[in-house]
Amino acid sequence: MIRLIDPADDDAMRQVFDVGVAAKSVARPWFTPPSYKSWLIGMRQPDPEERQELYGFFRDGACVGTSLLFVPTQDNLEKVYADIDVAPEHRRRGVGAALVRHAKARVGELGRSALFVETFAPGEGADDHEYARFARSQGFLPAWREPTRHLELPVPAEKLADLAAASNARRDGYRIETYVGRVPDELLAGLAELMRMLAVDAPSGDVDFEPEEVTPDRLRRIYAREAEQGRIRLSSLAIDETSGAVAAQTDLVFDDTMDPVVQEGTYVHREHRGHRLGTAVKVANLQRLQRDYPGRPFIRTMNADTNEHMVSINVELGFEIVETSTEWIFASSTG
Ligand SMILES: CC(C)(COP(=O)(O)OP(=O)(O)OC[C@H]1O[C@@H](n2cnc3c(N)ncnc32)[C@H](O)[C@@H]1OP(=O)(O)O)[C@@H](O)C(=O)NCCC(=O)NCCS
Repeated sequence: MIRLIDPADDDAMRQVFDVGVAAKSVARPWFTPPSYKSWLIGMRQPDPEERQELYGFFRDGACVGTSLLFVPTQDNLEKVYADIDVAPEHRRRGVGAALVRHAKARVGELGRSALFVETFAPGEGADDHEYARFARSQGFLPAWREPTRHLELPVPAEKLADLAAASNARRDGYRIETYVGRVPDELLAGLAELMRMLAVDAPSGDVDFEPEEVTPDRLRRIYAREAEQGRIRLSSLAIDETSGAVAAQTDLVFDDTMDPVVQEGTYVHREHRGHRLGTAVKVANLQRLQRDYPGRPFIRTMNADTNEHMVSINVELGFEIVETSTEWIFASSTG
């Protein structure tokens, strides 16, 4: 039986968390789950811009499969994203297929036309990996792929200094600033403007994305939630010294435990490309991370195959492929 789960239901939420961790850990020794506390805060304070619906598949009273639907409310209104997990010992008994059928029905009820799911496979991501076979069996088509790369820490300080020097030479007229926890109010409008464009420009196969509704208020809410979760966000920005505009940004996010660090989007404004600002902000963030938060094992980053420029910066820094995700689409017209 599939039922909607209330995020306030402590017992159900614990079961959902355990199913997700067990499902995502299979054959992925590099997977590090968030702490239960941090995950729960995130689930209980979703962004209003991306409504969440959480469903559980229950067998004999126990949750054995979960489906978390993300429903954008301000932009990309034809899309729904689903994160579907089945506990390892309950697989190949139709639970995953039932959750996909349910998600497709919800997409119809919501008046939407496209459902996205994501699968991970080791290394370059074999086409015939079991999760890919599952997605195909449910009528999904591959839309784009994103290798996940890890950078082992620490990166030698001399290497960072060399990269910083090389990028300094190309960026007259910009200054780099690094902030911990939150970017100050006076820069939020410029930062939000820049981040709105990230979803449009980041390569995503043939699927079009509208600008995401990022506002100073949304950023402030994210910062407040992360503070409660015990999360630390390092943001490095490049500021155009003439206009004061935010020309480039990059973020690293991590828990206050010794877990891996997650690289979030890096973005250089179209009008400010060609000055090595992408490298400059990334190196500045890494230097701050290693100076003030030493001892973390690695940084995790995901980039579409076709995002050649970002991939080349990452490869130069020493990132190596660990696994590859495929983003799958089920469009009503293809079903
Ligand atoms: C992918 C996943 C959700 C499948 O859950 P499941 O309950 O085992 O799926 P089902 O039993 O409904 O399988 C439906 C069909 O998918 C295909 N399939 C599922 N697992 C497969 C496997 N290991 N090898 C080959 N085909 C597989 C089969 O065609 C299967 O039908 P069949 O059993 O009649 O042959 C589960 O393995 C999982 O949680 N994986 C980790 C998270 C993930 O990748 N989620 C993304 C889902 S799109």
